[in-house]
This record gives sequence, C-alpha cells and structure tokens, in this order.
Amino acid sequence: MRVAIFASGNGTNFEALADDETLKSNGLEIVTLVCDQPNAPVINKAKSRNIPIFINKLSEYKSRSEYEKVIVDYLKPLDVGYILLAGYMRVVTKTLLSKYTGKIVNIHPSYLPSYSGLNAIERAFEAGENHTGVTIHYIDEGVDTGPIIRQEIVSIYKSDTVDILEQRVHDKEHEVYPEVVLNLLKKYQ
Ligand code: GAR
Repeated sequence: MRVAIFASGNGTNFEALADDETLKSNGLEIVTLVCDQPNAPVINKAKSRNIPIFINKLSEYKSRSEYEKVIVDYLKPLDVGYILLAGYMRVVTKTLLSKYTGKIVNIHPSYLPSYSGLNAIERAFEAGENHTGVTIHYIDEGVDTGPIIRQEIVSIYKSDTVDILEQRVHDKEHEVYPEVVLNLLKKYQ
C-alpha cells in the first residue's frame, strides 16, 4: 500500500512508521513526505531514508484551498491509498478531504474529545489531570474530530514533569500508530 505522510515538526512518528520492519514486510510504501515547514527536523529524517519530500508553504498562497490544490495535484500521479498525518499542524479542508474521503488518518496526543487542538499534552498536564491519551482517527472537516480508530489512555503521575509526560505520550504514539497502520494494510489487501 502506497501512502503519503504529512508532517510539520520533529517527525518521531514519521520515523516510527518508516522504520517499522513489520509494516515494510506487509507492503507499506511511504512514497512521499509532505511538509509545510521548510526547516522542520522531519525533512532530514525523510532525506536520510531516501523518501521524496514535497515542501509546500501555506503562506505562499492566497487561500487554503489553493495551497491544498497544489498538494492534490502533486499526489495524483503518486497513486496513494492513504494519507497519514503525523504531527501535521494544519487543518485539512475539503479540497484535499474530498479527494481522499475516508483515507486520511490523524494521530492526536490526547484522549479525544478531551484536549483537541494545539498543545494538548501541556494543557492536560497543567489542568492536573490524572490521565491523558493518544487517539488515532479518520479526519473530517473539524479540528481533531472524525471517526475514532483507536484510543489509549496514558497515565499522568504526580511526580511527572511536562517533559516526562510528553515522552510517555510519544512512546505510546510510536507503539500504536504502526499497529493501526498494519491493520489498515491488512484491510487494504
Ligand atoms: C505528536 O504528538 C502528534 O500526536 C501531534 O504532534 C506531535 C508530532 O510529533 N499532533 C497533533 O497535535 C495534531 N493535532 P512528531 O513530529 O515527533 O511525530
């Protein structure tokens, strides 16, 4: 199954997917990274794995729909079955969604619907919650909404710092995102 990964930042989830041997042996092909941040660390992670990179900056367009149209045109010949969002910090709108209905998956660092939006880990920590989570879901036109595929609880302990919690959430993400993608691969075949 050919997929595009969209990311804006560090790319630890990108790495977790790209380096997963079970995914490779079950036919996952990451055919491109689409990135909206020219200086994002994820770019070097794609380069070092010889994965083609498409950098596209929203600020270079008059509208979000023009920005997404360029992505749609770029992706068309690549024939991707799924788009996997891995820390892609842009809302996806109907220009892209309508071409990949039910085929765009997102990972979010909270137990949705709690703490949707930005800085989800910090906000759960600051609120004194005793748990947060990880959610993987199909996207719709909302922010971090759409049918949920998998959710996991991540505990927050009194002794935690936000950095410790962040690492625990990321560890959980790196465990569950490849598992979810493996299930998608199995369904796709
Ligand atoms: C991840 O925690 C992901 O869940 C989050 O961005 C981080 C990216 O980390 N995504 C969102 O908040 C989307 N709303 P990474 O670049 O190291 O994979």
